[in-house]
Amino acid sequence: MSAPTLDRPAAPDEAALQAQFDATIAADHRIEPRDWMPEAYRSGLVRQIAQHAHSEIIGMQPEGDWLLAAPSLRRKAILLAKVQDEAGHGMYLYSAAETLGADRADLTDKLIERKQKYSSIFNYPTLTYADVGVIGWLVDGAAICNQVPLCRSSYGPYARAMIRVCKEESFHQRQGYELLMTMMRGTDAQRAMVQDAVDRWWAPSLMMFGPPDDDSPNSAQSMKWGVKRHSNDELRQRFVDMTVPQAEVLGVTLPDPELALDPATGRYRFGAIDWTEFKQVIAGKGPCNDERIARRRAARDDNAWVTEAATAYAGKHSR
Ligand SMILES: [Fe+2]
Ligand SMILES: [Fe+2]
Repeated sequence: MSAPTLDRPAAPDEAALQAQFDATIAADHRIEPRDWMPEAYRSGLVRQIAQHAHSEIIGMQPEGDWLLAAPSLRRKAILLAKVQDEAGHGMYLYSAAETLGADRADLTDKLIERKQKYSSIFNYPTLTYADVGVIGWLVDGAAICNQVPLCRSSYGPYARAMIRVCKEESFHQRQGYELLMTMMRGTDAQRAMVQDAVDRWWAPSLMMFGPPDDDSPNSAQSMKWGVKRHSNDELRQRFVDMTVPQAEVLGVTLPDPELALDPATGRYRFGAIDWTEFKQVIAGKGPCNDERIARRRAARDDNAWVTEAATAYAGKHSR
């Protein structure tokens, strides 16, 4: 029998670590960066958080296009604040991914090389100023439905980042709705602009919740690990139930003849979603995919000198 070495405690075996991880998840406690975690949990989270961060950063583009054409100083100040918030959301999320060992520059490279995805919604163009309002109302509204449950995600840094993000998304949704309310009180031409924007953004907004549950390969494992709390279809239904009464108050028609309240459930039934379009946009063939990536690439390349200078400066100070 060999004596145990006193200077080096035996490393806990993987089964014990796994058991501890499982117990933490079962007790609904948080996993923190220094905790042991299964590799699939880590890599799955990096994939999800990176995709989320990329969506925030690419999501600055459609509305950013209207910054110079905002109709008043007040609207410009609101839109500027909103677009800056989205940049901040991207930064919190890249930081959360870094706690899992990911490298921020590497994630950006993967986005530009189309090895990682971002939300399909940001590949549609913003044709009029009403689109700014509709994005705030519908796109940020859908983002809130998706993100509020992530405040209880099992991974601590992701959950904590989401608390602040959700507070800001709530402001985004309200500024969009307030803009639309103002336009709806305006001229016939303004009301027609709002309706046209709603017609174009409604279906893509429903697609933001991802594919239907029976075609969502990563969902079951994410739910088991407490990273995700509700299924895609459940979140989509919540969004529809929340939005229909808002559309009525606003005075717009949602472009779905099958949309109707189901008296038995108190929830709204809605028509089939064009998943072929969704898959095409995800595959890079949406109206603006090439433009979005080209701009992100230019931003990385044109500003590389800033990163270099900041890195050199930080290096000098740490020496
Ligand atoms: Fe955001
Ligand atoms: Fe937002």
